[in-house]
Amino acid sequence: MPLISFARGAPAPECLAPKLIADCAREAIERGGPAVLSYGPGGGYLPLREWLAGRHGVQPGRVILTNGSLQGFVFLAQRIAGSGGRVLVEAPTYDRPLKILAALGVEIVALPMDEEGLDPDALERELAAGPPPAFLYTIPTFQNPTGRTLSAERRRRIAELTERHDLLVLEDDPYGLVRYEGEAPPLLFDLEGGERVVYTSSFSKTVAPGVRVGYFVLPEGLAAAIEEVAVSTYISPPALTQATVHELIRRGAFEPNLERVCGLLRTRRDAMLAALAREFPAGTSWSRPEGGYFLWVTFPEGVDAGELLVRALEAGVAFVPGADFFPAASGEGAGAARFAFSFESPERIAEGVARLAALL
Ligand SMILES: Cc1ncc(COP(=O)(O)O)c(C=O)c1O
Repeated sequence: MPLISFARGAPAPECLAPKLIADCAREAIERGGPAVLSYGPGGGYLPLREWLAGRHGVQPGRVILTNGSLQGFVFLAQRIAGSGGRVLVEAPTYDRPLKILAALGVEIVALPMDEEGLDPDALERELAAGPPPAFLYTIPTFQNPTGRTLSAERRRRIAELTERHDLLVLEDDPYGLVRYEGEAPPLLFDLEGGERVVYTSSFSKTVAPGVRVGYFVLPEGLAAAIEEVAVSTYISPPALTQATVHELIRRGAFEPNLERVCGLLRTRRDAMLAALAREFPAGTSWSRPEGGYFLWVTFPEGVDAGELLVRALEAGVAFVPGADFFPAASGEGAGAARFAFSFESPERIAEGVARLAALL
C-alpha cells in the first residue's frame, strides 16, 4: 500500500471537480474572449474582484487577487515587515509564513494559544511591553496546524486591541467556508471595520488549489502598493483561472460544490476522530475541529514526534511533527503533531491511525 499521508494539507482527489472546472474554463474564454487571454490589471480579473468586494462590503480597488494567497503573503511581508521588522504570530502556526518571515530577516514573536485560539492577554502584554510590531499574523478559523477556532469573545477583544494599539492584523482565512457544522463566528475584519485588519482567503480549499486564486482585502493605500509589487513581479496574474472561478460563481455552482466538498471532508474528519478514539492510547489528546483540514494531536508524556515520524514512515504513514509549526529553535511542539484528514480516504485514515497506534 502506498504511503498513507496525514502530512499533506491538500484536498482528496474526489474533492476536485475536473469536469465542472473544464466547463467553466471553456465558458470563461468564450464569454470573456481576448480579455481573459491577454494581460490584465495587476490586481487581477475585475469581475471576480467586484464579486469579492460585494461580499466584503468594500470598493473593488481594495481587493487584490494573487497566485494563491501565499504569494500575497510574501508581497505583504516584504512591503510592511521588510528586513529588521517584528511580526507577531500565534504559536503554533502555519509553517510556510514562518519560513518566509525568517528568510526576510524578520524577528518572529510567538504568542501562546489554547483551545480557544490566540490568547488576547498575551497579545495585550506584548503590545504594552514590546516595540511596535509591523503586524500580527493570525488564522482565526480552523487554524493550520491545530484546527482550532478563535472564540467570538476573543475576536472582539483582539479587534479592540487592534484599534487601541493601532495594530495591523493579517487575518488569514482559507478554511472559514469549509465548515461542516456549527455557527461561524464573526470575522475580525468585520468586527474591526477593515481599517487595520487585512483579510485574506483563497479558492484553494473551496474550488481547487491548482487554480491558484487567492485574494486580499486591504486598505486603499496598501492595495495600491501591493498591486505595484504584483505588476513588477509578473505584470498581471492569470486572468484565465480567475475568470474560470468567476464563471463557476456566476452559474451558481460555487455553493453546491462547496457543500459537496464539505460533505467529503466531514466524512474524513469523522473517520479520523473515530479511529483516534478507538486506537490511540490513554494520555493522547486531540482537537475536534468543526471544519478545515487538520487536527492537532498531543502524544503521551515522553513521546517525541520527530522520533515517532521516523518509525511511522517505516510503517508507511506520514504526518508533520509539531515542532515545524513553531519558530526555529524554540524547542516547542516536540510532543505534538499535525494530522491532515483532508487527503486520504476514510478507510486509509482508519488504517493509518491503527498503524500509528501500534507504534505508540
Ligand atoms: C493558513 C493557510 N494560509 C494560506 C495557505 C496558502 O493557500 P494558497 O493555496 O491560497 O496559496 C494555506 C495553504 O495550505 C494555509 O493553510
